[in-house]
Amino acid sequence: MNAPRSLSPLKVAIAGLGTVGAGTIRVLADQAALLTARAGRPVVISAVSARDRARERGVDLSAFAWFDDPVEMAKRAEADVVVELIGGSEGPAKAVCEAALGAGRHVVTANKALLAHHGVALAQLAEEKGLGLFYEAAVAGGIPIIKAMREGLAANDIHSLHGILNGTCNYILTTMRETGRDFEDVLSEAQELGYAEADPTFDIDGIDAAHKLAILVSLAYRVPVDLDAVTIQGIRHISALDIDFATELGYRIKLLAMAHKGAGGIEQRVSPVMVRLDAPLAHVEGVYNAVVTEGDFVGRNVFEGRGAGAGPTASAVVADLIDIARGNITPVFGVPVGALKAQPVEAPDGHVGRYYVRLMVVDRPGVFAEVAAALRDEKVSMETIVQRARDPGETVPVVMTLHDTEEGAMVRALDRIGASDAMVEPPRVIRIETF
Ligand SMILES: NC(=O)c1ccc[n+]([C@@H]2O[C@H](COP(=O)([O-])OP(=O)(O)OC[C@H]3O[C@@H](n4cnc5c(N)ncnc54)[C@H](OP(=O)(O)O)[C@@H]3O)[C@@H](O)[C@H]2O)c1
Repeated sequence: MNAPRSLSPLKVAIAGLGTVGAGTIRVLADQAALLTARAGRPVVISAVSARDRARERGVDLSAFAWFDDPVEMAKRAEADVVVELIGGSEGPAKAVCEAALGAGRHVVTANKALLAHHGVALAQLAEEKGLGLFYEAAVAGGIPIIKAMREGLAANDIHSLHGILNGTCNYILTTMRETGRDFEDVLSEAQELGYAEADPTFDIDGIDAAHKLAILVSLAYRVPVDLDAVTIQGIRHISALDIDFATELGYRIKLLAMAHKGAGGIEQRVSPVMVRLDAPLAHVEGVYNAVVTEGDFVGRNVFEGRGAGAGPTASAVVADLIDIARGNITPVFGVPVGALKAQPVEAPDGHVGRYYVRLMVVDRPGVFAEVAAALRDEKVSMETIVQRARDPGETVPVVMTLHDTEEGAMVRALDRIGASDAMVEPPRVIRIETF
């Protein structure tokens, strides 16, 4: 009997040695035997690149070739795969991926911004070259949602999906509810603890979640990744008062990324939403992420786990490397790029659903009649109304929940209500979803 032929190692070059890059090096070192068994061949690092060679990263880099220029590494290193862990939709990250694919190397990336902006073009390039472009770590960190949607759920049409895709926002909303503190205060603390970036815009304005949603939507509906199709609203305007009223009404406020196929097309939206306490996502707290999918044969699946951090994200990067080592090269967005077809986008105005509305009102006679008339004229009907105790002439919050109503009609009614001199700030609106 012949001895089994030992397969050549998969050689990996890593661009970017920050949180995820150093984490990936650690997993590849600590799990070497397990990975060799699972991949059927060793997975070894051949080269690395970052900006500062002298920086201490807590991992031993001495065995790897060092490149100051990551693009040069992508072109010249002795590697089968280039792992891009630099970040950003343009600049070196994009150049590294293009150079690697151009030079005939597979690419693994954790970069949702890059894929949201250039995913189709990069997928096209990978396909032309017969190479893999893998990105499990780009959406929901350690949750294997990309593989689940691309492969495990491939037999299904996905009717809808929704998820908590930004751990920073979820941490802020959870802490606001638990402590009763306001948004700005909790955001500053999150920045001190390292849960939020110094520039938190991408997270708190919903852009990061939108990048991830656009990728999931492509996998679910076989459409090109299209960030412009996502309606985006972040959490800056959520106040401690809204969180308090949500609890009183039996809801939790979550920043959700949502997509569903309606009569008018695919709705893609990131916005704060009130979810009932018995919804799967109501109890996903802190920095955790979760995704719920509804498929026609499989029904509902709920995925929950850590959405960020060195360990979970490196776990996802290494899973992609195992696929490449095994030769499992799948179409980037589940189908060949030519089979991705744009579909109409459902305008938010056409959405029919329930809403929470908070008005800040100067309590004087006739105000309620004005509010009721504006709602009646747009055929918007109120389900509940909550008003806190006050003295005449004081500003008071008035909270209404609305029965199913068309968003456009509600917006028109609230425009009229908001123009009243009894309103001290614009009406605040949060969707209520019953998943
Ligand atoms: N952190 C997470 O939990 C997480 C989760 C999911 C996805 N991601 C994604 O993973 C990617 C990496 O994130 P990260 O948190 O690891 O970032 P990070 O800690 O800021 O690390 C970025 C790395 O890129 C290197 N770099 C930056 N510009 C470079 C350039 N021009 N040439 C060469 N190297 C350059 C930096 O080098 P120096 O170290 O020398 O400065 C650093 O090592 C991003 O796309 C991010 O969105 C991160």
